[in-house]
Amino acid sequence: MIPINNHYQKLQASYLFSDIARRVDAFQESHPGQPLIKLGIGDVTEPLPPACIAAFHRAVDEMADRRTFRGYGPDQGYEFLRQVIAEGDFRSRGAPVDADEIFVSDAAKCDSANIQEIFATDIRIAVPDPVYPVYVDTNVMAGRTGPWTNGRYEGLTYLEATADNGYVPALPSNPVDLIYLCYPNNPTGATLTREQLQTWVDYARENEAVILYDAAYEGFIRDESIPHSIYELEGAREVAIEFRSFSKNAGFTGIRCAFTVVPKALKARDGSGNAVDLHSIWARRHATKFNGVSYPVQRAAEAVYSTEGKIQTRQLTDFYLENAGLIRAAIESIGLSCVGGDNAPYIWIQTGGDSWDFFDRLLDKAGVVCTPGSGFGKCGEGCIRLSAFNSREAVVEAVERVKDTLAG
Ligand code: MLT
Repeated sequence: MIPINNHYQKLQASYLFSDIARRVDAFQESHPGQPLIKLGIGDVTEPLPPACIAAFHRAVDEMADRRTFRGYGPDQGYEFLRQVIAEGDFRSRGAPVDADEIFVSDAAKCDSANIQEIFATDIRIAVPDPVYPVYVDTNVMAGRTGPWTNGRYEGLTYLEATADNGYVPALPSNPVDLIYLCYPNNPTGATLTREQLQTWVDYARENEAVILYDAAYEGFIRDESIPHSIYELEGAREVAIEFRSFSKNAGFTGIRCAFTVVPKALKARDGSGNAVDLHSIWARRHATKFNGVSYPVQRAAEAVYSTEGKIQTRQLTDFYLENAGLIRAAIESIGLSCVGGDNAPYIWIQTGGDSWDFFDRLLDKAGVVCTPGSGFGKCGEGCIRLSAFNSREAVVEAVERVKDTLAG
């Protein structure tokens, strides 16, 4: 028999959100007719902005006509989309990003999972704890960790984010080459100030490290002092790759569009110690392994940056933030501490005790699905995450059920 990649054997049994889905399915089977409210995985519920729908329809009509039909698109994504992204998301905020530094893709999840391929296997990696599990699992698969021991993989540096440090980890105390950061944070909803993020950029510059900055939730930032992009910070172009997504700000989870920025100034070294630019390496990888996002979807994404698109996506994120406010208020009213929900769609709640026990209790007694904090790492034990992505009606009902269950 052919041998497998043995590093897969080190992984925990299943991906966190698949595990939750399985438990929820099993619960529903054994409790038929019991209505559940899902505030677990961050999946949007509201329809696409009308500007995106109109652009999507127009592009489908173009595909129906020989004169405007399009086959394979450009490797990095259509210029029309990359130009509006560069202007709308970066240059308008003083972040120097050019259209040809942007790679359009189907997901920040996939890009943040795949990016590790372009680095050597023996690099030293730092990940936050709690953490979006994709960053960790993909490095396990690639053989960059030892076995799972006492709730952690050997060989990784864990950057602990807890209530004690305001969910902002300290800089690593041992040398690392690659650092994963996500702000506004998934899962805690915490944010970084400009000064805090500058500290990470300065650290990366001093230590020749690279930061992988996941900004998939930047559309939820309301406090204008919080940076939306790492490239707003001095020197970040030489040390950071940024991931963005249309999933949560414009409701694209079902139609798929995202992008990654790899600045041309970002260098690493080859086996002989020569400097190489990561932009060329990622371009090579992208061209070989990815076939692009469909033309109608890229047109729909372009519409996010139109005058109406900006207003409509803002209304969408406002809607989910209002949900988050309702959840936060309910949680605080029963005396539990929480963070997030003000500049992020996630609320991170300190429940104490075992996170999976709490998950089961909420499911069983309230019929509400949450995400157990321990699924995001050891530091998530004793916490749960509630997502603000649901209809208003469902959120209002869920918070009443949660209050009754926990207060009763
Ligand atoms: C989450 O719930 O953490 C997100 O939906 C995961 C994702 O976007 O892949």
